[in-house]
Amino acid sequence: MDSRTSASDTAKPSVYLETYGCQMNIADSELVTGVLKAAGYANAESPERADVILLNTCAIRDHAEERVLGRLSVLAQFKKRRPEVRIGLLGCMAQHNRAQLIEQAPYLDLVAGPDTYRRLPDLIRTAGFDPAIDLRLDRNETYAGVPSYREGGVRAYVTAMRGCDKFCAFCVVPYVRGRERSVPAESLVREITELAEHGTREVVLLGQTVNAYRDDNVDFGRLLRMVAAIDGIERIRFTSPHPSDMSDSVIDAMASEPKVQPYLHLPVQSGSDRVLAAMDRGYTATEYLELVARLRRAIPGLALSTDIIVGFHGEEETDFDATLELMKRVGYDSAFTFKYSLRQNTRAYKLGDTVDESEKSRRLSAVIALQEAISLERNRTAIGAEYPVLVEGPARRGNGMLAGKTPQFKTAVFPARDGVAAGDTVRVRIESATAHSLIGAQV
Ligand code: SAH
Ligand code: SF4
Ligand code: F3S
Repeated sequence: MDSRTSASDTAKPSVYLETYGCQMNIADSELVTGVLKAAGYANAESPERADVILLNTCAIRDHAEERVLGRLSVLAQFKKRRPEVRIGLLGCMAQHNRAQLIEQAPYLDLVAGPDTYRRLPDLIRTAGFDPAIDLRLDRNETYAGVPSYREGGVRAYVTAMRGCDKFCAFCVVPYVRGRERSVPAESLVREITELAEHGTREVVLLGQTVNAYRDDNVDFGRLLRMVAAIDGIERIRFTSPHPSDMSDSVIDAMASEPKVQPYLHLPVQSGSDRVLAAMDRGYTATEYLELVARLRRAIPGLALSTDIIVGFHGEEETDFDATLELMKRVGYDSAFTFKYSLRQNTRAYKLGDTVDESEKSRRLSAVIALQEAISLERNRTAIGAEYPVLVEGPARRGNGMLAGKTPQFKTAVFPARDGVAAGDTVRVRIESATAHSLIGAQV
């Protein structure tokens, strides 16, 4: 018997949950775990002995879906040995692929979209000979008041808004997550107050266009100020803001609330106006650069990261050069870079691919190489400076080092001193830097 299973848990059915995709999916998995715990399920640490195996999935790129299909076929083995096991697919890919999935993975017992998690215990119970399928999108579902189950820790991710109304031509999110809706501010403040009482020091507010948040007269800037007023919360971050929703209200809150950290993930996607227009992003490269300048004037020491897609429909060499140029002009601290992946249902789907796979790979390598060089240069400017670092725990490489984040969301690694623990904020003087982290010592 598993020694970690307590006596009271042995009688409970157990569920094993694996999560793919973005922070929002990780937060949704915490919600799913909360719902299932309330319904009497215990957590299983591995799929071997679990009664229910669930994958919370992502549909953003083809590669994400391929990985899940591969994993599903492995997990299906458990069902061969123990036919009573229930295997279910949750999240964005469930919503995206619907019927196809049942064909590709006939052993699925359950397919549930992102707005159906309150009903999950019932769905699991009804999953029998025929798979239980619930893919209703609900424009009112915010899961307000449904308790999430979190492991604890210094940082907590809290969903502030769900869905997306932007319909960028390449993106599947509005189709799989449905319409934009905000969690009531009062419910968020209650949740974050409780988290602070249980030791959370940093909160990350989540939403696909999180700065489009609105609950009656509370806009996102106002929400940031409300969260900043919560005792015990020391740092506030949010992701992802959309450049078009970066209002004065939000910038003012970032500039004037010390708890709101000087770091912004501001996805640009491309540096070419032609491509940005084809993507329906709602801004030009010049407007984006003006926004960056405005942000930098208002928020000293601001760090910026971004998302970039290479090889979108119609992207020519000159468009790609414009992306490299914009990356240099902004000088991002880091960037997430992707090859364009054609997604069914999106507006760009029928346009097809114009950039072949090898050319996409070449462009991707070029943006990665450029960003590595810029990141290293940016991080080197931190050498000699001191930063308050919120300690998260032992560094991944171990050997007596601790790790935490600077206000700019850079990983700082430094030798552990006695008495310093996760949740403490210490001052670290930076002595050296790589493209991905800062190395220093406590002062
Ligand atoms: N809401 C965020 C992005 C969410 S998806 C925003 O608007 O910026 C995360 C990133 O995945 C996107 O920023 C984009 O760079 C990438 N992405 C989305 N759809 C994609 C596709 N079809 N192919 C390749 N990358 C994609
Ligand atoms: Fe997708 Fe655009 Fe919405 Fe971001 S803003 S989730 S890229 S549609
Ligand atoms: Fe993927 Fe869904 Fe997030 S498609 S990126 S898990 S919102």
